[in-house]
Amino acid sequence: MKTLVGFAILFLVAGCNKTPSNQQTSIEGRVDSLISLMTLEEKIGQLNLPSAGAFVTGSVESSDIAKKIEQGKVGGLFNIKTVANIREMQKIAIDKSRLKIPLIFGMDVIHGYESVFPIPLGLSCSWDMKLIERSARIAAIEASADGINWTFSPMVDISRDPRWGRISEGSGEDPYLGSQIAKAMVIGFQGNDLSANNTIMSCVKHYALYGASEAGRDYNTTDMSRHRMYNEYFPPYQAAVDAGVGSVMASFNEIDGIPATANKWLLTDVLRTQWGFKGFLVSDYTGISEMINHGIGDLQTVSALALDAGLDMDMVSEGLLNTLGNSVKEGKVTEQQITEACRRILEAKFKLGLFDNPYKYCDDNRATSEVFTAANRAEARSTAAQSFVLLKNNNVLPLKRSGTIALVGPLADAKENMTGTWSVAARFSESISVLEGLKKSVGSNAKIVYAKGSNLTEDEVLEKNSTLFGKSLHRDTRTAAQLRDEALRIAKSADVIVAAVGEAAEMSGEAASRTNIEIPETQKELIKALLKTGKPVVLVLFTGRPLALAWEEENVPAILNVWFGGSEAGDAIADVVFGDVNPSGKLSTTFPQNVGQVPIYYAHKNTGRPLRGPWFQKFQSNYLDVSNEPLYPFGYGLSYTTFSYSEVKLSSAIISSADSLVVSVDVTNTGSREGKEVVQLYIRDVVGSITRPVKELKAFEKITLKSGETKTVNFTLGKKDLSFYNADLNFVAEPGEFHVFVGGNSRDVKQGSFVLK
Ligand code: BGC
Repeated sequence: MKTLVGFAILFLVAGCNKTPSNQQTSIEGRVDSLISLMTLEEKIGQLNLPSAGAFVTGSVESSDIAKKIEQGKVGGLFNIKTVANIREMQKIAIDKSRLKIPLIFGMDVIHGYESVFPIPLGLSCSWDMKLIERSARIAAIEASADGINWTFSPMVDISRDPRWGRISEGSGEDPYLGSQIAKAMVIGFQGNDLSANNTIMSCVKHYALYGASEAGRDYNTTDMSRHRMYNEYFPPYQAAVDAGVGSVMASFNEIDGIPATANKWLLTDVLRTQWGFKGFLVSDYTGISEMINHGIGDLQTVSALALDAGLDMDMVSEGLLNTLGNSVKEGKVTEQQITEACRRILEAKFKLGLFDNPYKYCDDNRATSEVFTAANRAEARSTAAQSFVLLKNNNVLPLKRSGTIALVGPLADAKENMTGTWSVAARFSESISVLEGLKKSVGSNAKIVYAKGSNLTEDEVLEKNSTLFGKSLHRDTRTAAQLRDEALRIAKSADVIVAAVGEAAEMSGEAASRTNIEIPETQKELIKALLKTGKPVVLVLFTGRPLALAWEEENVPAILNVWFGGSEAGDAIADVVFGDVNPSGKLSTTFPQNVGQVPIYYAHKNTGRPLRGPWFQKFQSNYLDVSNEPLYPFGYGLSYTTFSYSEVKLSSAIISSADSLVVSVDVTNTGSREGKEVVQLYIRDVVGSITRPVKELKAFEKITLKSGETKTVNFTLGKKDLSFYNADLNFVAEPGEFHVFVGGNSRDVKQGSFVLK
């Protein structure tokens, strides 16, 4: 056996010199020959993904990881970083396990690594695919320089429920925008050569429908029609598959009464058969053992169900590791099924080049020279500025660098909170706070005076749970009145007040759902007191979700939504506040007037009793106490300049499905400074065999216009853009009338129409 193993390893290494064209065939051959040497136990071992335990999002099930690696019972590890730590673990696999199969090393590299970019929801508001791709590219360069070769990103779950904390981790409510971003992220992480040492394998998650959990409560049940899945929730996952994503993570929720982790229709029929996914499928954290709680069987049963459904790798549960042997003996699964799962994981390791050099991501020089570099931080800063959304501005912003500026609020001097949720590699102490950013930016031209003004909330327990993982807001023990008084004292001397308020970093993200989506009361009291001074107040709003801001919209003169902008956010905020950068972010998710309107999204159906004319009308689809309108619609965001749109021009009033239609609009910068505008195109299929949304985004373009400049934007619509999944789940473009809308958000649009023959 020893000689055989030696021969196989030689063959495997030699095979790495193949040209890319025959690489796939050569990988298959090498995987076959390796599999022929593996025992059943070793194959099962490859399916096991324990957490190394550095950062955990649940319990740690595996003990004695080193011993297990030696015994060939581990296929990869996650929650581990640094070249030294990763090399140490890889060395055990290579030096001590019988077949010397390298481990894959995963991590949640979600929005940057040490150079942290805006949270994904913020990033999506840039509507700039090159920028988003670049952020993933930099994240991959930094993570791979630190030993990591696999990221659990992008998270592409469509969500229309701001109560759900994880809305912060995705790209908002829209399937088209979400799909473009999914593709950009996968390409950013994986590049065009996965075996290069600075690209990493991407894992699209959470497949599927995780963002539709009932009542916005995390891990909760989902239930939806097939046509809604296909038309509204599936597209971003499929876009990631089309972009060549190497792996997919199953979601925690159930679908049609079967948890996604064991849902054969979802994992095999849709993902592999219909979409042609060729990579490997990993469970989410304890996703397998959680199926015991879902109530579909004991550990052995659920593990067998997961494998049978098409799942390949078990994150943390050790259900596959500990039960598949027996399940083979008892005829519940076949060895062939285990071989197939193992094959897919080995293929991924070959693609990453780990058989060529297991230490290829363990380069000490790269770790010191390519992480948290000045250049990467500069990109994080400019990207952050592109993610901010100016929600309101009554001629207050941009501020002048002169006089005295009072900076108040619990998020003003909050380094640890700048990076937001899922920033496991961030260097908190080096993040730029708003206070630092503003001070640096004004230099000696203006005076910045600071007071905290309030804690995050009066509820100490809520504050503790919202500032986990070292993201403390350093709770002040003074009373709310004392804190407010201090803020009012410093505000007295100021010309303008900047209030850095909103949510703490861990108030969104995993297991961070809220039923009240307003700014916490004590901060509102602070804002009210500040407004009473009669001085202009600017809200610099931190949030990981759409908040209900009806009162703020009515009372505060300027609101700049900065999400969580990343390690350089403080500088980026100063860039926008002082007008060095003109804000251009547009919302990727609707902001409701209040939580009772949730779920609220622009691409809703018309209903049989749509509200026509003014609200309120009896026996029409509306509320007694609040109109149907959102506070800020999807696609909305202001600039320091203004834009006007011409009427829409169509290349033809009638087209056939073989034609394409060109939709043109002239956009003019009618303000006094250069700015960027996201020009958005929506359609409505007026009559369908199944009901269609009142508007659907189908194209967009971000343009830059100088003051007074006009540009013609041309969009080409083809059959695919007019198609949808019908009742039989066939993707069809049905003849009939279509409306087309173009504008700077989903509400304020110019309209045209055409007929598809
Ligand atoms: C989360 C995933 C994450 C995984 C590993 C889970 O709790 O749902 O998004 O990738 O942990 O950290």
